[in-house]
Parts: sequence; structure tokens; C-alpha cells
Amino acid sequence: PSDALRRAESLILEIPDYPVEGILFRDITPLLADGPALRATIDALIAPFAGTYDYIAGLEARGFLLASAASYASGKGLVPIRKAGKLPRPAAAVGYELEYGVAEVDVHADMPRGSRVLVVDDVLATGGTLAAAHTLLRKLDYEIAGTAILFEIEGLGGRDTVNDPRLHTVFHS
Ligand code: PRP
Ligand code: MG
Repeated sequence: PSDALRRAESLILEIPDYPVEGILFRDITPLLADGPALRATIDALIAPFAGTYDYIAGLEARGFLLASAASYASGKGLVPIRKAGKLPRPAAAVGYELEYGVAEVDVHADMPRGSRVLVVDDVLATGGTLAAAHTLLRKLDYEIAGTAILFEIEGLGGRDTVNDPRLHTVFHS
């Protein structure tokens, strides 16, 4: 990897007991604040998927920070997958389990049916968020071109839950 990509990894901070006790939070804001590290990270995030997708879907909120940059870098359109109640024309909604309570993701369906969508988020933990995003897109007859994640937390079964043979993670625990 380049110097910038090596530095990017060192700029992901581990914050113990945030947002609740027992959770080791990955804080990517120092990486975002470093221009060359951010650029190298975005390039590494989408590199394996060149030519295989028509759109990039980003997951609210932190996924948006990466997905919009990836859209610019690739010249592909951006599809926001939003949390419940934020979109005026939701074409589909999927609920998923959190450690405490439930959540929901919504999306508009402004892309042609059958479009190939690359799904982008910052962190893979249990995989619940990504699995819901995949279900959402498939409900609307979109094809999952792959899943690109900045940081994979290993040991939580997220990779199995996501179950995408084209899952690519730039960094991992
Ligand atoms: C975080 C993170 C991932 C998700 C991973 O989002 O950004 O999207 O959790 O967890 P999982 O694999 O167990 O589903 P979160 O909804 O906490 O907050 P955000 O709106 O800041 O992205
Ligand atoms: Mg998130």
C-alpha cells in the first residue's frame, strides 16, 4: 500500500466505551481530515469494482461521507439509503435489529430496474445494517454489484451476515 493508505489506517482511532459501555468505537474523523489519506482510502475502496457497477449507494450517515467521494471519483451516480422517515418518496423500507431496539432503512427508486449497485459504508460490525440495505435494493430489483467497506470489525459474524461474495474491506481489526 502507498504511504497515504498506511497513514489512513493509523488515523482510525479506537474509542473505548462509546457510545455505550463495552463498545469499541472506530472514529474515522482523523482519516477524513487528512486529504491524501482520504483520497487513497476512497481509491482503495472502489478499485476492485471498476467497470462492474452503475451506481453507488451510501448508508446514512457515515456511509454518505465515503459514498459521495466514491461517486465523484468513479463518475457514477449516488443513491442515498436513509434512515426511517427522511425520504419523501420511499419506494421500499426494510427494518433491522440493533443491539437496543429496531431501525429502518428507506430508499428512492430513481435508477432503472436491474441497475448494478455498489453498496458503501464505513464500518462492518454485526452486518445488520448492510444486510438490510441489500434486502432493500433487491426488493426493488436492483443487482448488488458488491459491498465496499472502510473498516471491518472481525469476530462479530458480520461477514457471514452480509453474505456477499464481493465484499471488500480496506482495513480490518
Ligand atoms: C454504524 C456504522 C455502520 C453500522 C455498522 O452506523 O456507521 O453503518 O453502524 O453496524 P452493524 O454492522 O452492526 O449494522 P450507525 O447507524 O451507528 O450510525 P451513523 O448514522 O453515524 O452511520
Ligand atoms: Mg452507519
